[in-house]
Amino acid sequence: MNSKEDGAALITGASSGIGAAYARALAAQGKNLILVARRKERLAILAEELHRNHAVVAEVLVADLTKSADIERVEKRIREIEFLDMLINNAGFGTFGNFSEIDIAGQMDMIHVHIVASVRLCWAALPGMIARGNGVIINVSSMGAFIPMQGNVTYGATKAFLITFSEALQRELMGTGVRIQALCPGFTRTEFHDTSEYEKLDRSLIPRFMWTSADDIVAASLRSLKTGKVTYIPGLRNRLLVAVNRNRTISKLLLSKLRRKSQRGQQPG
Ligand SMILES: NC(=O)c1ccc[n+]([C@@H]2O[C@H](COP(=O)([O-])OP(=O)(O)OC[C@H]3O[C@@H](n4cnc5c(N)ncnc54)[C@H](OP(=O)(O)O)[C@@H]3O)[C@@H](O)[C@H]2O)c1
Repeated sequence: MNSKEDGAALITGASSGIGAAYARALAAQGKNLILVARRKERLAILAEELHRNHAVVAEVLVADLTKSADIERVEKRIREIEFLDMLINNAGFGTFGNFSEIDIAGQMDMIHVHIVASVRLCWAALPGMIARGNGVIINVSSMGAFIPMQGNVTYGATKAFLITFSEALQRELMGTGVRIQALCPGFTRTEFHDTSEYEKLDRSLIPRFMWTSADDIVAASLRSLKTGKVTYIPGLRNRLLVAVNRNRTISKLLLSKLRRKSQRGQQPG
């Protein structure tokens, strides 16, 4: 990595989709990069493209974030980089199917990639960022964190963890110069749904207007960093959807509370 002024960003899940879009956007700003994922070839092609187009240093770090030893290697690299001023915990995947019927190993892997790796990499990055009085951490959550869904139990729960974790962490970091964002995208056109897990998902059921490009998500995320908002849902439609769903949940809770109260009132004392 070269100079202090350029800074450096480590991005997990940089081999495709939202992670690759962050890499392209940040390289265009002159930032040096450490690209983390399992697919070495993909990372190498991207690193070469970024170096060619933007003259930045893009390093490839192959790691499977379901494995503790690989997470430790990424942590070690984070501590070594003197001017790391950005960490993007983006690696992730989904599964599809009722919790009691699907393979538990896949759910444990998801907890490792979404939660264990993100928490450990934040912990590795923060001392340097705090000492330098400057840093940004983006934890890529999901709109799914707000809308509990059948067939998506562990996914939504891990993404909800990232929101609570990010919100509390930002409070602890008040006045340090380190900013945290929990990015909550809605449906994004990436490779996320191209897996065998999602073969049964009929994508035509999701209206076209609900889909966004990874580039638009990343541009909105980077713009939002200037606002100081921690939990950020890109797109007005998605924000409305979350608000409507929240209100529906609150209304249901209030109604059931009222119902219980009135039933108790009717019971003989
Ligand atoms: N697409 C959507 O609709 C959507 C919506 C909300 C939130 N998100 C979130 O956005 C993030 C990025 O997903 P995407 O949409 O860009 O999907 P994607 O194109 O499938 O990218 C996922 C990235 O995660 C990496 N990854 C997966 N498992 C990994 C592991 N065990 N170790 C290391 N890296 C791993 C993949 O790299 P390798 O396969 O090379 O390891 C890939 O680079 C995820 O956290 C996802 O939950 C996506």
